[in-house]
Order: sequence, then structure tokens, then C-alpha cells
Amino acid sequence: MAQSASSSQNKSPRDNMNNMYKLTRHVYDASRKFYLFGRDYLIENLNPHDGDHIIEIGCGTARNLIKMAYKYPQAHFYGLDASDEMLKTARQSLLRLQLADRVPLMQGLAQEFDPLTLMESNQPPDKIVFSYVLSMIPDAEGAIDHALDILPSGGEIHIVDFCHLKRQPAAVRMALQKWLALFHVHYNPKLLAHIKDIGAKGNAEVQLQSLYKDYAYYARIKKN
Ligand SMILES: C[S@@+](CC[C@H](N)C(=O)[O-])C[C@H]1O[C@@H](n2cnc3c(N)ncnc32)[C@H](O)[C@@H]1O
Repeated sequence: MAQSASSSQNKSPRDNMNNMYKLTRHVYDASRKFYLFGRDYLIENLNPHDGDHIIEIGCGTARNLIKMAYKYPQAHFYGLDASDEMLKTARQSLLRLQLADRVPLMQGLAQEFDPLTLMESNQPPDKIVFSYVLSMIPDAEGAIDHALDILPSGGEIHIVDFCHLKRQPAAVRMALQKWLALFHVHYNPKLLAHIKDIGAKGNAEVQLQSLYKDYAYYARIKKN
């Protein structure tokens, strides 16, 4: 066990995500619908203007990108993911639905990607979405700061992710935490503190909402 943990620590995030999703990408959408709650709530609350450019970071199989592209046909969507394996599934799904031309995808890391390469434009994105990805990133605060740097004034970050589960029964909390740890997913209290701090410092307007008795949280960060 110790050996596999240390060998995964020595690998790049790209290699780790490729290993994690090489097989599970085939059952990802069917299995995750049972516990990644709140993704449709985020999509409902995205409220893009016509012509907005929206990036989903950690887009996985493109499940959200497909729903968003159908719901908001006047907006432009882009997907970024660390895992080439997940991107294979995303590409196949977009091609099957004839959305591949409308939704460009790129391999890259949340903390350092170049939006202009992804969007092939000098215009910054209007919104950035993080759906159940920040809980997998060790430097999630860095990923949020990078997104804020990229956005123009008035641009928005929308996040849905696991919360602290405090109002969940202890048995549910412990079982879920063990299950999520298998996928290197951890609730990070420092991240919520960081998001609140961004609001407190006046860098953005922050709205935070607990969903489903602290199972998940939804955050909207509007840059000043
Ligand atoms: C749990 S899945 C969520 C997928 C999708 N957002 C959803 O809601 O169904 C997390 C995704 O984030 C990607 N990911 C993990 N770390 C990343 C990073 N540092 N930068 C970009 N993507 C990352 C993984 O490869 C995976 O596809």
C-alpha cells in the first residue's frame, strides 16, 4: 500500500488522473449520478447572457457541458481536463451528439492552463465552472485564484462540490468519506475559508449555499 501511495505521489497529476479514469470512465456517468448531487442545480443557476463564453474546468465525460450546451444554445462552451482518458469519453459523446464543433476540449491543469489556447481567442471567458473537481486538487485555492485572474470584472465562477457533511448521519458521513478517499477526493475546509476571504477582501461578491443538509455546497463568485 505504502509503495503504491508513494508511486502515485511521484507521478504528475495528468498521469494520476489517466490511471484513475482509464477504466472507470466507461461507467462514470452511470455510477456518479447516484452521488454527485447539485450539478443540475449549478446548471440551472448559471444564467449566461447570449454570446457568453463559459469554460468547465475538470469537465470529465462532458456530462455537464452537453446539458449546458442544450440548455443555453446562445452561449459558447469549452472543456478542460487533466485526464486524456476522460477527454476520450467526452470527445466520443460530443461527436455522437454532433456537438463536437460547438464544444472544444483541451488537456490541461486547473492551476495553470492558458484560456486563450483553449478558446482560440483573445477574449477572456465570462464564466468558469468547477463541478466536483476542486475536492480532487491539492492546491484548490491556487485553481480558484488562477480562475479569478483569468476572468474580467463581472465574470463569474460557479462551484458545486462536496461539503463537510455535518448534518448527515455519522454512518453516512464515515462511509462516504471512506469511499471518496479511494478516488483521492477530500473535503477541504481551507478552500471554503479561502472563498469567504475573497469576498471579505472585496475582490468579489461571494454567495455560498449549503445543499442537501451539508452534502454539497454551491458557490457563486462574481469578480469586482
Ligand atoms: C469527479 S470528476 C467531475 C467531472 C465533471 N465535472 C462532473 O461534474 O461530472 C473530476 C474531473 O476533474 C479532473 N481533474 C482532476 N484534477 C484536475 C486538475 N488539476 N485540473 C483539471 N482537471 C482535473 C479529473 O480528470 C476528472 O475528469
